[in-house]
Amino acid sequence: MNFSSDNVTGILPELLRALSDAAAGTAMPYGADSWTERLVRRLSEVFETRVEVFPVATGTAANALALWQLAPPFGAVFCHEESHVAVDECGAPEMFTGGAKLVTLRGDHGKLDPKELDAAICRTGYRMVHRVRPAVVSVTQATEWGTVYTPGEIADVAAVCQRHGLPLHMDGARFANALAATGATPAEMTWRAGVDVLSLGATKAGALAAEAVVFLRPGLSKDFEERRKRAGHLMSKMRFASAQLLAWVEGDLWRRVGGHGNAMARRLAGGLAALPGVQVVAPVEANMVFVHLPPALRDGLRAEGFRFGDWPGGEPSLVRLVAHAQTNEAEVDALLETARRLTGAG
Ligand SMILES: Cc1ncc(COP(=O)(O)O)c(C=O)c1O
Repeated sequence: MNFSSDNVTGILPELLRALSDAAAGTAMPYGADSWTERLVRRLSEVFETRVEVFPVATGTAANALALWQLAPPFGAVFCHEESHVAVDECGAPEMFTGGAKLVTLRGDHGKLDPKELDAAICRTGYRMVHRVRPAVVSVTQATEWGTVYTPGEIADVAAVCQRHGLPLHMDGARFANALAATGATPAEMTWRAGVDVLSLGATKAGALAAEAVVFLRPGLSKDFEERRKRAGHLMSKMRFASAQLLAWVEGDLWRRVGGHGNAMARRLAGGLAALPGVQVVAPVEANMVFVHLPPALRDGLRAEGFRFGDWPGGEPSLVRLVAHAQTNEAEVDALLETARRLTGAG
């Protein structure tokens, strides 16, 4: 049973059907197909504003391309010290921007602290030739620690951006989990709170390589088409990414899938927290549980076939368990029962 990532999940049946329907026949390549056209229209309805949508194959590409769009080579990108863009993209944002500096900031459980952010932007020295120029702020929603910004918290970060005239980017690799966790609408979670560009990720929530850069404010996407092409992410058969994204938002499927992962993570965390020596270290607001497990319990669970990852940079006993579209109650309960037996609690 695999709790190591939400990337272990398969493809949702609804998306497989959408892929199969899109496969029957020919369509114009490179986004000149009817699925991509409908996707732009549908996401404009869903986000309650006219959006521009650029499907890409990976979340790293979405983030790096979005930041390339927003930051010059001499720019500064402000982000959390544990953000995916800073630690898990092998320097792609630095490479695509041509050398922009990622200024990493501390903050509880993956969230940027608006005061720290404001101070960092001031410190960086706006328009002083010796220093990089503040260019963009990036937040992750849900965060790398499985916490979720409320729309109000996003607005607090956006207020700092606005004070300094900077755009706000959101890494939404787990956007659906955040929507489900807060009950906010996509508009409330993004542009109404001040987000300008969203990396919208469907892959972790049941799609096959379907992500998109979504521009939520007019006038920001100039030459983005060329950047995506240069980066090798202008997919010739874009209809398959677009068809999945369309099916994913239809009937609120994305929110249901996100909510399911969140509920499974809560069930897991609730059961684990009751065991001796176990400590859940971050609020479980999305689909991830960060927990200290006594070494005997951690190794025992692995020996019985449960897969989950050690958390790099944390103490050795810190692990991350992730729930996803295919995680079910029986799997969660099997892990909890085994854990109870191994700790002598059951
Ligand atoms: C917060 C976050 N952003 C972006 C990504 C996208 O990564 P990938 O390039 O693997 O699709 C991930 C995947 O782990 C992630 O956790």
